[in-house]
Amino acid sequence: MSYNDDIEMLIEAQDLTLPPPEREPQRQYYFIKKCREIIKKKSEELGRPLYACSVCMGCQMNAKDSEKLTGILETAGYEITDSQEEADFVIYNTCTVRENANNKVYGRLGYLNGFKKKNPNMIIGLCGCMMQEKKVVEKLKKSYPFVNLVFGTHNIYKFPELLAETFQADTMVVDVWDETDKIVEDLPAKRKYSFKSGVNIMFGCNNFCSYCIVPYVRGRERSRKPEDILEEIKKLSSEGVVEIMLLGQNVNSYGKNLDTPVTFAHLLREAEKIEGIERIRFMTSHPKDLSDELIDVMKHSKKICKHLHLPLQSGSSRILKEMNRRYTKEQYLQLVDKVRQAVPDIAITTDIIVGFPGEREEDFLETMDVVKKVRFDSAFTFIYSRRTGTPAAAMENQVAEDVVKDRFDRLLKEVQTIAQEKAMEHTGKIFPVLVEEVNRQDDSFVTGRLSNNSVVHLKGDAGLIGTIQQVKLKECRGFYYIGEVISQDEKKVW
Ligand code: SAH
Ligand code: SF4
Ligand code: F3S
Repeated sequence: MSYNDDIEMLIEAQDLTLPPPEREPQRQYYFIKKCREIIKKKSEELGRPLYACSVCMGCQMNAKDSEKLTGILETAGYEITDSQEEADFVIYNTCTVRENANNKVYGRLGYLNGFKKKNPNMIIGLCGCMMQEKKVVEKLKKSYPFVNLVFGTHNIYKFPELLAETFQADTMVVDVWDETDKIVEDLPAKRKYSFKSGVNIMFGCNNFCSYCIVPYVRGRERSRKPEDILEEIKKLSSEGVVEIMLLGQNVNSYGKNLDTPVTFAHLLREAEKIEGIERIRFMTSHPKDLSDELIDVMKHSKKICKHLHLPLQSGSSRILKEMNRRYTKEQYLQLVDKVRQAVPDIAITTDIIVGFPGEREEDFLETMDVVKKVRFDSAFTFIYSRRTGTPAAAMENQVAEDVVKDRFDRLLKEVQTIAQEKAMEHTGKIFPVLVEEVNRQDDSFVTGRLSNNSVVHLKGDAGLIGTIQQVKLKECRGFYYIGEVISQDEKKVW
């Protein structure tokens, strides 16, 4: 029986003639059943199914949350659609890590309001990180009264209960919590892919990098129990999942505050033993907490992918200190050396911020120096965004926009040149590729990923999705490859 089948039985067992249970997640099962009745009735009135569209705007962790939202909506009786225009219920799971993420939400709301005028049944819901900001909720109440439901990151598990309340309310339902120490397990989820899945190992963040809003909107670090995580991975494996991505803002500090502390390295060793799982990825590693034990586990693992995302943020030790990152340029470089010595063929990728307050040309050149020394396989580059409430937002020496733009362009050029040179090095070699989807441009091709996370397009059809094929990389086209499936007897590289 699948995970969702088990939950289905528990939902059906709820008695709606009784008051809702106090315990979670039973209370939410009760409200799912209640929503089902309401949705069924509405659908009968309209003589058609009700459609819901769930839009995710943030990182991998938001994507994982969105799978829960979609799972709950489907379990409650909605038909899931990708079209916001035809949906009766639209929910945006928002991100607020940079200001432009917020602007995008306001823009989209104006657009949705146009559809709502045509479909008065339409319900608009907003949740996720941006809703944890008080000024956002105030602005929504004042200028976007057509939004029906607003909730935050800490009470996402309460979605069924809030949905039931929204059906009956005339005004905006708002429920945003400042904090939680709770982790509610066992809610329905609809996975985007059948063969790969994210797995939360921890929530929140305690690092308070001075530019970052995440600790304020995601709360304090909370690790899930190893047994719950491993149980989830076993279930996923039994449902055909071959690749898992362990998710947390700082996976290297996993397990430190559990009643019985365990290390991330230990969790990885246990996950490795689970049959059926072929590939293990994890995101994100903070350099300050990357232990020798973890490097050793990566070195000996057959399943951990040859990819480490190790955000640098800045190459200047002075700026790193101001950012509260708690490592220096030299420590970062040493760490990269250590990782490469242990796992020579590993791809290292990173995040870099340009224009942090007080960044001088010489600081920026230090960043460029690290980029040239490390030669990242790829890098996400960001222009510093001032986030209200963070220590960096109050710093006086904000860098002028044109200076930042000029540095950003120089950095991007360097990063891209190196990434292309690195990608070229693999041309002609054979690697296992997990095929993920039919190519979006040409359906006689499929698209997959190497262990090092590079993208490969190859001839093939939907039948290959979810399988691991030995593929020869025939040609490198900048950031991706064109490959060809080889016969079983050609040599495997890794
Ligand atoms: N927990 C992860 C990062 C999560 S946010 C880590 O520490 O590595 C993803 C990336 O967004 C960060 O690595 C950082 O590069 C970028 N970022 C965060 N806050 C930002 C801000 N205020 N302005 C610009 N980029 C930011
Ligand atoms: Fe933000 Fe730093 Fe936490 Fe990453 S580690 S989420 S950058 S505070
Ligand atoms: Fe954005 Fe929240 Fe992730 S702010 S980056 S969606 S944790």
